[in-house]
Amino acid sequence: MGELLGTWRRSCMCAEVGQEQVGETVTVMGWVHRRRDLGQLMFLWLRDRTGMVQVVFDAGKDAELAQRASVIRGEYVLAVRGVVTARTPENINPALKTGTIEIEARELKILNEADTPPFHLDEDSVSENFRLKYRYYDLRRPAIQRILMMKHAVTRSVREYLDQAGFIDLETPILTKSTPEGARDYLVPSRIFPGEFFALPQSPQIFKQLLMVAGFDKYYQIAKCFRDEDLRADRQPEFQQIDIEMSFVGEEEVYAVAEGMYKKLFKDVLDVDLPTPWPRLPFREAMARYGSDKPDTRFGMEIVQVSDLVRDCGFSVFAGAVAQGGSVAAINAKGAAKKFTRKELDGLAEVVKTYKAKGLAYMLFDGENIRSTITKFLKPQEIEAIKARCGVEDGDALFFVADRTSVTQRALGQLRLELGKRLGLIDQSAWNFLWITEFPLLEYNEEEGRYTAQHHPFCSPLDEDIELLETAPEKVRCKSYDIVLNGVELASGSIRIHAEDVQEKVFKALGFTHEQAWERFGFMLGAFKYGAPPHGGIAPGLDRTVMMMAGTDSIRDVIPFPKIQSSACPMTDAPGPVDPKQLQELGIGILPKEEA
Ligand code: AMO
Ligand code: AMP
Repeated sequence: MGELLGTWRRSCMCAEVGQEQVGETVTVMGWVHRRRDLGQLMFLWLRDRTGMVQVVFDAGKDAELAQRASVIRGEYVLAVRGVVTARTPENINPALKTGTIEIEARELKILNEADTPPFHLDEDSVSENFRLKYRYYDLRRPAIQRILMMKHAVTRSVREYLDQAGFIDLETPILTKSTPEGARDYLVPSRIFPGEFFALPQSPQIFKQLLMVAGFDKYYQIAKCFRDEDLRADRQPEFQQIDIEMSFVGEEEVYAVAEGMYKKLFKDVLDVDLPTPWPRLPFREAMARYGSDKPDTRFGMEIVQVSDLVRDCGFSVFAGAVAQGGSVAAINAKGAAKKFTRKELDGLAEVVKTYKAKGLAYMLFDGENIRSTITKFLKPQEIEAIKARCGVEDGDALFFVADRTSVTQRALGQLRLELGKRLGLIDQSAWNFLWITEFPLLEYNEEEGRYTAQHHPFCSPLDEDIELLETAPEKVRCKSYDIVLNGVELASGSIRIHAEDVQEKVFKALGFTHEQAWERFGFMLGAFKYGAPPHGGIAPGLDRTVMMMAGTDSIRDVIPFPKIQSSACPMTDAPGPVDPKQLQELGIGILPKEEA
């Protein structure tokens, strides 16, 4: 059983004990990380959120104390009072911040015992789902604690910046109506209105716009958002956004706020000086040059259009793609001609095939010799023209895809990333921020065979594209922007529509009838009749920002209690069945599994 704390209090945290205290008596409390028993001497590493310190029990000096300490096991909770001593040079442990000293125990309280833990915190081979089942224990890992404390430093810095810049922190409802961001809603049944549901917000989008209508001028909130979508390494069903909205502004003011916020954040938390302003790249150009709307610009190897050079060539795949309105493009892997075996080349073809390309053609330039299965179909002057366009030098490798333009771009974009990784072209120390701008209003949905909204329906079209809303909506570009960092989308935002007639036209272009639009967003359209100011904003993902800053590739590392792949929580076993009485109160019946 645990001893009482009584009048004992800590004099410092574990990792705060240092060389300066040598000779002093300190009181530290924490968990036993490791225990090494050498008979006469027992060494413990005591851990709290600051780190660890070594405690020594010496049976030669105090046999009774050593006897009491002999029952201590991993994760016991201790209070230790002892004298700080300098370690002899050969015993210094550079791996510990406190590695030059140790505490010679004089008094001990075993505040709590602990069962043998399900795994050791230092163990790497434990499956993540198993760790998450015991998340309260897994969270004791120093690496995770460091990340979560970094997350706190991030929110503190962000709040400081936005408070200073005159933004007001306001909350928006969690039980609300559907707020569209393109994912499925989480629904909450209403007891008072059986058969009716609240939706959890996918973002505070509509409410932050209403706060602008209300005249709050500058709003922010570190907001929880809920989206029922397929999870990936950088997606969780509930996550946080640094949600921002401003009135009487255009894109430039939003860019300045976001750049200023990240500049301060990186300085405060990582002591990195981020250069600003960041480069800006219209969506169309990003797709043409990088085959992605979130390009990793830490390396070059840009996509080069060669359609005009091969439209009449003898390789039917190339000529055919151009004839059908598609395109042929290439990337040049500099100096990589001899770096691929036949099998690796087949592997690269598989990469582009995952993105719907039908094949991958290549030319490997090795002196006079060109290794390729397609050069036999091309005239020497065609090959020369391609070489000149792509800047080919001896030893380079060209890869081609011919297809519908969207497929050509995406496939080569993914191949570019793969080659960038394999060839070690990515500067791991770089922080390449950029803006992607002018997203299209509509996006062609391959599955549904029609155009759907690229983002939420409130993005303002570019002034010069408004007239296209009725004639060629697929050509309309928006005043929308994303922040991309090292190939990851960190934030999205836009200048919103504030004029009712434009909003109506946009709903129409998105395929909503007048009635459908009013049914879903009536309260918002209504509000806009009472004096909506021009406004716009942005929402950086907090979790993704911390992921990047902490250098982890799993979003679960930056969330204290995350969900696993299936959107479930192995610790609480949520979601779970509920009492039939609760369902009855809600007027809900459950279909048998096979029907559901
Ligand atoms: P968007 O839907 O692009 O925009 O979201 C903004 C940012 O939120 C983060 N994010 C996520 N993070 C973790 N898990 C998820 N499932 C997830 N989904 C999104 C990303 C993303 O860039 N209302 C608009 C913003 C605006 O227009 O002001 C919005 O929500 O970092
Ligand atoms: P084939 O004549 O179909 O055997 O193709 C010859 C070469 O062109 C092979 O290396 C194929 O992978 C490649 N190829 C086939 N289709 C395409 C395409 N759509 N784009 C680029 N290369 C292709």
